[in-house]
Amino acid sequence: MMTVDLGLLAQQAIELLGHDIAAADAEVRIDGLPSCVAAPDLLIRVFLNLIGNALKYGRSADRPLRIAVSSEDDGSWHRIVIKDNGPGIPPQNAERIFEPSQRLVTDDKAEGSGFGLSICAEIVKLHNGRIFADKTSETGARFVMELPKAPLQ
Ligand SMILES: Nc1ncnc2c1ncn2[C@@H]1O[C@H](COP(=O)(O)OP(=O)(O)OP(=O)(O)O)[C@@H](O)[C@H]1O
Ligand SMILES: [Mg+2]
Repeated sequence: MMTVDLGLLAQQAIELLGHDIAAADAEVRIDGLPSCVAAPDLLIRVFLNLIGNALKYGRSADRPLRIAVSSEDDGSWHRIVIKDNGPGIPPQNAERIFEPSQRLVTDDKAEGSGFGLSICAEIVKLHNGRIFADKTSETGARFVMELPKAPLQ
């Protein structure tokens, strides 16, 4: 574990996803992410999967895809929010998508095994944090990753 600038980590993920971002003609914004104690090689996988999912599942015919990565301060927690303006996650599926091999789409142009979010959940758990899909989001998917400011105490 080391001190990691989450803004730089998210930026690295965006660079790795550059081709997909261009193909989706998406706008991706990173806004004011903190630094925290983390394992960067693991945590980047969370950004890659969440932003990658937004690129795969967040597209709509009638509006350009916008993805935002931002953070909120919640006392002893960093709350990192990854949201898009796509069709979103039906609230009744908000937990199921974190189980291995669970995908909501059947006719599928988007490739995937359905393991991404379960791996994200394991990685965040290793950081003593938690990750969930916000059931109350009315506009698109909104994923929340909460990381403790002091994970090693
Ligand atoms: N931003 C999103 N908008 C709408 N649906 C989503 C979004 N993110 C995830 N989902 C749904 O949750 C499912 C699980 O996501 P997950 O990342 O675990 O799997 P995947 O992306 O399909 O495959 P993999 O990540 O293994 O390549 C997806 O198949 C999709 O149905
Ligand atoms: Mg995925």
